[in-house]
Amino acid sequence: IKTRVGIVGGGPAGLMLSHLLSHSGIENLVVEMRDHETIRNTHRAGILEAQAVKMLTDSGINGRVLTHGDEHSGIDLRFNGESHPLDFTDLVDATVTLYAQNEVFVDLAAARERDGGDVRYGAEVTAVFDMETDTPKFHFTDAQGQAFEVHCDILVGADGSRSFCRRAIPEDKRENYTVKYPFAWFGILAEAPKSSAELIYANSPHGFALISQRSESVQRMYFQCDPNEDTSSWDDDRIWAELQRRVDGPDGFELKRGRIFDKSVLPFRSFVREPLSHGRLYLVGDAGHTVPPTGAKGLNLAFADVKVLFEAIDSYYSTRGIALLEGYSDTALKRVWKAQNFSYWMTTMLHTPPNADPFQLKRAIGELETVVNSRYGQQYLAESYTGWPHS
Ligand code: DHB
Repeated sequence: IKTRVGIVGGGPAGLMLSHLLSHSGIENLVVEMRDHETIRNTHRAGILEAQAVKMLTDSGINGRVLTHGDEHSGIDLRFNGESHPLDFTDLVDATVTLYAQNEVFVDLAAARERDGGDVRYGAEVTAVFDMETDTPKFHFTDAQGQAFEVHCDILVGADGSRSFCRRAIPEDKRENYTVKYPFAWFGILAEAPKSSAELIYANSPHGFALISQRSESVQRMYFQCDPNEDTSSWDDDRIWAELQRRVDGPDGFELKRGRIFDKSVLPFRSFVREPLSHGRLYLVGDAGHTVPPTGAKGLNLAFADVKVLFEAIDSYYSTRGIALLEGYSDTALKRVWKAQNFSYWMTTMLHTPPNADPFQLKRAIGELETVVNSRYGQQYLAESYTGWPHS
């Protein structure tokens, strides 16, 4: 197969890039290891920056994010058993939209199908090579077991945190930056009404909890747990009691309970690969970097990468200039490190490490007080949470 841009990975980043390229008349092919159903049922974060929403609506994917998404103009930072509302509209004149990542995938996949995009699901990439030449190539075996060799001008690794493409880059050309955390998230979906109008990020002596939402009748919540926690030893009552004690306070705030129909443990880390390119191979989204989930920057950062790379590829085909392609890694990394800082900061400020020393616990409360007691502090959080301008 010959195509201009070969995209390995058909999650939101790969499909968004494919969509934008096709709209500019740039031929491309997407191969994705998983089947459509599996990706559709993979629960991920649900917060979109306004700019991510704009990318979904401006290029004619469809307006479902506007009709089914929920605009949020703030969050509640809860610690010492007290609520501290932050109003993003007032602070930085910006909002975010709660719209689950699997819905983003459904919309993008439907738009690719509607527009005749070439997306091969259930296809396994077995080799990536010739990245240093003008014709990078890869091998894949499709869902029917047929093998193909793809020749392209530009190869994109959008294949997630366990990226095959990333691992194909020679050892001596790369630098990895990693932080491991001594905790994970226990995530649930429950049939229950909303417990609060805004999302609650709670710091407590028992650990972090996040009270999020999916709809009027389905709620998404997480609590900090051991990375080796076994979900089968947690029945509904135990989970609700654990979540409740992390938001307990003198105000008597109570979570609205209901049947829990999904539970999973989500381990995480901070990770950056530098550079984000090698020859004609470009890494976008989780293939190049991973953030811990606190603050929901993952998908937003992937879309920001896609925007920078799309503009570089578009410029390459319209002018044959390669300056933007050569600058892709440096340009994208600036935002990556800002998001790494924000996600690390939110994570460490809100979580309680196992066996934390008392000084660290008190210090974290001091940090939270510094944020909520100052308009500048609140604005710093609000600006990062709602997203910096795209470059
Ligand atoms: C959700 C996840 C996050 O990591 C976050 O910061 C906010 C919301 C969610 O899944 O709803």
